[in-house]
Amino acid sequence: MLEKLAALKQSFDADLAEARSGQQLSLLRDRYLGRKGGRLTLLMKGLKSVAVADRKEVGRSLNQFKARIETAMETARQRIESESIRQESARVTLDLTLPGKRRALGHLHPLTRVRRDIEEIFYSIGYSVADGPEIETTYYNFEALNIPQDHPARDQGDTFYLSESLLLRTHTSPVQIRTMERMRPPLRIICPGTVYRRDTPDATHSPVFQQVEGLAVDEHLTFRDFKGTMEYFLKAFYSEGTRVRFRPSYFGFTEPSAEVDISCTFCSGDGCRVCKRTGWIEVLGAGMVDPEVFRHVGIDSERYTGFAFGVGIERFAMIKYGVDNIQHFYQNDLRFLRQF
Ligand code: PHE
Repeated sequence: MLEKLAALKQSFDADLAEARSGQQLSLLRDRYLGRKGGRLTLLMKGLKSVAVADRKEVGRSLNQFKARIETAMETARQRIESESIRQESARVTLDLTLPGKRRALGHLHPLTRVRRDIEEIFYSIGYSVADGPEIETTYYNFEALNIPQDHPARDQGDTFYLSESLLLRTHTSPVQIRTMERMRPPLRIICPGTVYRRDTPDATHSPVFQQVEGLAVDEHLTFRDFKGTMEYFLKAFYSEGTRVRFRPSYFGFTEPSAEVDISCTFCSGDGCRVCKRTGWIEVLGAGMVDPEVFRHVGIDSERYTGFAFGVGIERFAMIKYGVDNIQHFYQNDLRFLRQF
């Protein structure tokens, strides 16, 4: 009996060494421990025929072997399991040292960014945002702004008319009028928005573009306040080192009017191709509110003064980011947009 057991142990060890899967293990279990025909089970059944004197000893050996089979099978099960995990991960060739894939996150369009930057600067000095319609009447777009009937801006060739008296606003200045009709001074507002002009698209023109209009009305506002505000704004937007200059100009709704230039952001004023060797770049139109405009909205021009300015968002973005063609902003070529 003990010899048979020794042989059985040997063949079990050999069989176990060959088991490669959970399925083979359970076959192995059947082969040795199966209730009917298991090789160890059969030996145990034969215990009856062992001499009584030896029976206890042999029985213990059989039981020990049975316990050994159980633990050996459990160990083998764990080995097979971790082996299969190892093989699986080798198969998918997961290289944890590879650099990660960067997923592109969306971000703001450069024009939105510039608009928000401008808004932030004016929020910080007490301005709030006003809004108005893009379809305007000739009254708000021209008359109330003191732009006379025969002014070229009113020409069919420059303005999109929807009817005799309705048009797509050519600037955000009508929002000045609408705001002053609604609210009494002191006023400090900016109005960002889309405007329309019958321009043929080229590197610097687009029939649809965006402006930010600004307006301040209060007692004792002077040309100095106007200049100081423009300087503060332009330095905050471009850079602290930016120099600002005012040139006389003409707008129906401001008097005096100015065109405002900054020192060229590309050559710092030395003269380059962008500033046409002048060292200066024109950035906005502005001026002190014409008393005639106040008359239209019923504000006493003896008591109140004000200033207004108009910024082209595309123009600001082109100067700030060195973009040489306004059309880039509308074509939404990802190679362009990703640079911002
Ligand atoms: N509305 C003018 C334009 O579109 C800009 C401007 C605004 C000028 C306010 C002076 C004051 O050209």
